[in-house]
Amino acid sequence: MDKVFIFDTTLRDGEQVPGCQLNTEEKIEVAKALEGLGVDIIEAGFPVSSPGDFKSVVEISKAVREPVICGLTRAVEKDITVAAEALQYAKRKRIHTGIGASDLHIFTKLRSTRDKVLERGVEAVKLAKKYVEDVEFYAEDAGRADLDYLVQLVTAVIKAGATVVNIPDTTGYNLPWVFGEKIKYLKENVPNFDNAIISVHCHNDLGLATANTISGLANGARQAEVTLNGVGERAGNTSLEETVMIMKSHKRLGLDTGIDTKKLKPTSELVSSLMRMPVQANKAIVGKNAFAHSSGIHQDGFLKNRENYEVIKPEDVGVDQSEIVLTARSGKHALKYRLLNIGYEIKPEQLPEVYEKFLELADVKRQIDDKDLRTMMEKEFVYK
Ligand code: KIV
Ligand code: ZN
Repeated sequence: MDKVFIFDTTLRDGEQVPGCQLNTEEKIEVAKALEGLGVDIIEAGFPVSSPGDFKSVVEISKAVREPVICGLTRAVEKDITVAAEALQYAKRKRIHTGIGASDLHIFTKLRSTRDKVLERGVEAVKLAKKYVEDVEFYAEDAGRADLDYLVQLVTAVIKAGATVVNIPDTTGYNLPWVFGEKIKYLKENVPNFDNAIISVHCHNDLGLATANTISGLANGARQAEVTLNGVGERAGNTSLEETVMIMKSHKRLGLDTGIDTKKLKPTSELVSSLMRMPVQANKAIVGKNAFAHSSGIHQDGFLKNRENYEVIKPEDVGVDQSEIVLTARSGKHALKYRLLNIGYEIKPEQLPEVYEKFLELADVKRQIDDKDLRTMMEKEFVYK
């Protein structure tokens, strides 16, 4: 198995979401949870952006010792010197610097030229190298950049000392196989490719962030930049829990991470509550319904063999157990199972009548919980 480094940017890209800002204490709490989860790198913030972000990077550097602590910068001298200062207490530190690489960014955002941007990228890496050994370079909007220019840029920044080169699909535009081909093209055409780790950083504008990340990894990238619950600007970033569980579930990828997957659900809950950002119920892995079965056909199949309707075990991601949700679409088997769980053993000949009463109730109430079941049983059957 090849190791994939998990670079968590919940506290930087994730925290850019309006309304999700965290204070320093909250960031330290998240950073410690990320350390417990086993992430390799924590992007703790963008130190030059505000005194609060600077302070958070300093405090996280002091509080968290195992993962590499990373600070983001633009390819700007002041950003880099400020990041180096913020990271001074980190046991293991990285500066993440970079610049726009697509023609769109080069001409319309930076109002520059390809050559000048390449030069700025190289200079930024060289400057960052004066402060830290571990320097990651990001080629912003690489997903829409000219591929041969990207080859030149990646080659040049690796030559300048970059230890990791990040290929972001900043606008979430790529199709998975196209993004994978781009990583493969870099692998085949960048002469010093093996001197650095290639990282993928995908956004979810078209709902393809996780698919693009996996495709990049399958084609040679060895670092995934992710956030818990997929939080991030616009439609978000690649979700950590999805990326990790795909690698764990598909051994044929030959990829492994150091993540303690049993901590995924509690860490997701912590991030959701501190960021005041609810997780959608149908979110893969950590959503409320990710292990809930409600239709009769599914419940019957699930009760006969869990694997009929589940590809991962809830306990593997820190969820107590799968749930059989009772609604008007549920079947007799599910009802019998839930009644048995709360202490009512229903004989086969009683089941049709109990089920009929249940349906009457379920048609009125959307979801039937254990309390409703108990009331129904006491009222209709026990004391009758
Ligand atoms: O999406 C992006 O391109 C970024 C970079 C700053 C790495 O977040
Ligand atoms: Zn991003």
